[in-house]
Amino acid sequence: MNKLFLVLVSVAVLTVGSSNAAIYKGQRVFVKECVQCHDGGQSFIAGKKIREWKRLMNKKGKGLAELHLENKKAKKSWRYFDSRQYTRKTKHLAQFLIEYAKDSGNVPACN
Ligand code: HEC
Repeated sequence: MNKLFLVLVSVAVLTVGSSNAAIYKGQRVFVKECVQCHDGGQSFIAGKKIREWKRLMNKKGKGLAELHLENKKAKKSWRYFDSRQYTRKTKHLAQFLIEYAKDSGNVPACN
């Protein structure tokens, strides 16, 4: 299910073209950094609304980072959430998450 979702996303993103390059980049970040712990794929992302993802990803993803840094169960992610690599790419990640949020309709839009 998860793999299928990622394939579908890749196809959709490639079809829509370069205007959605940021979402594609965000997807790569998600696959690389998040799937190891959150393997729900689409259902994980669709578990939140656009507004909720936005709130978490505000201020260079401060909310999301804090949530993990305060949770011992997420210890393996601490190095990542504490790094510049994370803050540099939160914009792409946010676009990807918002694109597939619960109330987005799941249709890659031309924006
Ligand atoms: C090392 C494992 C790990 C990694 C990597 C990780 N997380 Fe998490 N994440 C957790 C844990 C543990 C929690 C706390 C919730 C729980 O206990 O299930 C959590 C919670 C969350 C929550 C809140 C869940 C909720 O129901 O409100 C979100 C959203 C989230 N993570 C997104 C991400 C994103 C996006 C990434 C990649 C940038 C990521 N996580 C990377 C372990 C991880």
